Amino acid sequence: MKVLVIGSGAREHALCRSLSLDPDVSALHCAPGNAGIAEVAELHAVDALDGAAVAALATEVEADLVVVGPEAPLVAGVADAVRAAGIPCFGPSKEAAQLEGSKAFAKEVMAAAGVPTARSYVCTTPDEVDEALDAFGAPYVVKDDGLAAGKGVVVTGHIEAARAHANACDRVVIEEYLDGPEVSLFAITDGTTVVPLQPAQDFKRALDNDEGPNTGGMGAYSPLPWADPKLVDEVLQTVLQPTVDELRRRGTPFSGLLYAGLAITARGVRVIEFNARFGDPETQVVLARLKTPLAGVLLAAANGTLADLEPLRWSDDAAVTVVVASHNYPGTPRTGDAIEGLDEVAAQDAPHAYVLHAGTKQDGPAVVSAGGRVLSVTATGADLTQARERAYTALSRIQLEGSQHRTDIAAKAAEAAGD
Ligand code: AMP
Ligand code: GLY
Repeated sequence: MKVLVIGSGAREHALCRSLSLDPDVSALHCAPGNAGIAEVAELHAVDALDGAAVAALATEVEADLVVVGPEAPLVAGVADAVRAAGIPCFGPSKEAAQLEGSKAFAKEVMAAAGVPTARSYVCTTPDEVDEALDAFGAPYVVKDDGLAAGKGVVVTGHIEAARAHANACDRVVIEEYLDGPEVSLFAITDGTTVVPLQPAQDFKRALDNDEGPNTGGMGAYSPLPWADPKLVDEVLQTVLQPTVDELRRRGTPFSGLLYAGLAITARGVRVIEFNARFGDPETQVVLARLKTPLAGVLLAAANGTLADLEPLRWSDDAAVTVVVASHNYPGTPRTGDAIEGLDEVAAQDAPHAYVLHAGTKQDGPAVVSAGGRVLSVTATGADLTQARERAYTALSRIQLEGSQHRTDIAAKAAEAAGD
């Protein structure tokens, strides 16, 4: 099978790594990719947001499957363009991707499907904003309605900050604060059948102890030793399947990866958000534990044959990933700095720990930073403690001037599990 992956993050590197290890994959292409993906896939300089260009590339490389990684191309209709060219595509249509593209649309679908989520108001004027903030009280949760790369959400105890964020956006969703640990649960679906993956936890805040601003995600781990073993089944029944059924009922079936961001509150599971694609950095740890070869699973979703798929097989290992970000991320990051130590990780830490590239590019013989999240170090181990140790040991070999990372990824969960 010839596969083309669209995107350039650590998520796409994780997807490409798994696909490159799949014996059914005979050729692997990626556009636009990054310096790390270049080691496992042939790169093509195609604009990921240009559906016609992506479809033309897929035709040219005779792809049997196209996998669209990020949300922006999905919301722009790239999966539709690929399917219109007669090529199977893993990723939802433009219309179904609105589940991520518009928080107001996601709320409407959840209401129709009876999916538990925070109570909310959609506001477009300062008066509506004030009314909604008053109605819920602190802490305030204010979300830009559109795509914002994980940075459009402000959770704050300060009404002035809440109001300022709301009034800087055209349309916002203001909602009830959900208290409780967060879980990211991904499911692969063909629009009818829903196959959940293993749950993971993401660390959204920039700094240790969940301080600092929200980011795209600074680290993740899986499994979740503290979670109820029935959680996945419960979320399948109350969240994932009803949402997929509702979108099919509307004539806009969702096929691809449905990502449920959940809060486990005292009153039960609530959806914080949906995404229409694999999460980053959770994908790095989920795929590190998936034993079933990936290409056949994604192709079955694209072809509508998931019901015939064998149950997924999982490793009992734990996995931890730690993101290395540029100076000033999630603000405008500093780029163009040399990254050292990548060869040492490959020589000393593989196969249990490895680097997945995000914002990197090759600059002559050097690999340099080219984005906010630069790379993520992923490691597996018998338990979270060992996976953590391996991840941080590998990370300590990498030098990038001014870079930042969290030191507490999976620390509490490992401690609580008594690993
Ligand atoms: P989102 O982009 O909707 O996932 O929001 C980013 C992050 O903001 C989430 O991972 C949560 O940590 C936080 N957040 C979003 N909505 C809420 C909420 N209703 N209550 C508490 N925290 C929230
Ligand atoms: N890790 C959060 C996201 O992918 O949106």
